[in-house]
Amino acid sequence: MSEVHVENSPSPDAGDDKGAGASTAPCFDIDWWTMLTDPEFLKNPYPELKRIRELAPVQFDPQSGIYFVLGHKEFGLMAKTSSMGRDTTYWRNGWSSPENRQNDPETYELFVDFQPQMINANQPDHRRMRGVFDKAFRPRDMMRYLPMIKDECRKLLDGLPESEAFEYMDLFGNPLPNRISLKLFDIPEEMEAQIGKWISDLSWLGNIVMTPEQKRNVKKSNQEFKQFVKEHLEGLRKNPGDGFVGMALAAADDGTMDEEETLNNVVMLIAGSKTSLTLLGNGLLTLLKHPDQMEKLRADRSLMPRAIEEMLRYESGSSIIPRAGVEDFQCGDVCIPAGALAIGLVGAINRDPARFDDPDTFNITRKPNHHSAFGGGPHICIGKALARMTTEVAFNALMDRYSRIELAGDATWWTDRSDQRGLSSLPLKLTPA
Ligand code: HEM
Repeated sequence: MSEVHVENSPSPDAGDDKGAGASTAPCFDIDWWTMLTDPEFLKNPYPELKRIRELAPVQFDPQSGIYFVLGHKEFGLMAKTSSMGRDTTYWRNGWSSPENRQNDPETYELFVDFQPQMINANQPDHRRMRGVFDKAFRPRDMMRYLPMIKDECRKLLDGLPESEAFEYMDLFGNPLPNRISLKLFDIPEEMEAQIGKWISDLSWLGNIVMTPEQKRNVKKSNQEFKQFVKEHLEGLRKNPGDGFVGMALAAADDGTMDEEETLNNVVMLIAGSKTSLTLLGNGLLTLLKHPDQMEKLRADRSLMPRAIEEMLRYESGSSIIPRAGVEDFQCGDVCIPAGALAIGLVGAINRDPARFDDPDTFNITRKPNHHSAFGGGPHICIGKALARMTTEVAFNALMDRYSRIELAGDATWWTDRSDQRGLSSLPLKLTPA
């Protein structure tokens, strides 16, 4: 785990005591980083996460100095408190901490580049940046984009082969969120491939463990992407409209965000949409693996919003959600000290039996369903209404058009990243209605 440079992270009072008492974090004999990067674990992490969650909802890893949060209640506490935040410069000896500047200047510089994004800011800067776009992402305001989303979905469906096998992720799951993003930011279609590559490179930043090559790609793509956004915004300055481009330019002009913040947040919003592909893939595969639930949904489409929440809970696209300690924080029975990094493991949190009845059962009528697939607290995903709307449109359109949606081979999970859970392949066969 040398990539994350956490050897000297703050440790709890009684770090290596098994089952330590209140305020100290229990440690167990778990090789966390081997586990979290093991391809077999990544194919199906749930049995192992269940075993580990049963040991304790918050645990300390003395090797990396990181706290792992597996309990639903504990994650909610950590996500909401202002004692912990997403600004990783607070993570003592972490990549972007001032302490790491000497040890690993390359990684330090990389994270400095991304610091002006809302996701990496604590209050009040976070609120200032998020406030520029927050209203536009509310479900009611998102409705203005519904016709566009339907149109992009229809265009992709028109191009799908019928009654023969094809790769759903390549022809639908991947391109749909990207195309919607281009439209939201008035970016010409010709840029689709280039933007797709930048987004793909940037996505590795969330993986915590990055190879040197990935780090170089992230840095280079970020610079190119920001330069493109800069020229794109300038090009639309005379006629910015009242959409996302107009909001970004207005915030830059009235000083709400400086130039770096404007460019970084626009890049983040375009790139953030990629996560929707995990819901489009994981959700559909889960339905296909549960034909009784698919039938139920076909028979009553009003269940679609609840079905989507259950897909998010059952096969969440986000696997790890970090917070860094600003000050000591009592998280349930455990004190997470200032300067520590804590990681929420969503696959465990979303199947915590203390919160969900029968958590390993996929049940599209589940209610309530307070899953943490979009995180929680002030940083809860700003694009959640867009992701939900995109998926609802896509799955309704698929079911309207095709009387049968079948697997045409084995689906393949990503096994090369720990931060996100998604599919590299979902072979399908569609029979028209
Ligand atoms: C199924 C799809 C999606 C999933 C699973 C997802 C998941 C997440 C998660 C887990 C977080 C971190 C929350 C936390 O730290 O508590 C987040 C934040 C964020 N997401 Fe998403 N996301 C999705 C779609 C989108 C879309 C479509 C966009 C862009 C339009 C987007 C943009 C963002 C941004 C900008 C943040 C940072 C928010 C902040 O710091 O205030 N996401 N998302």
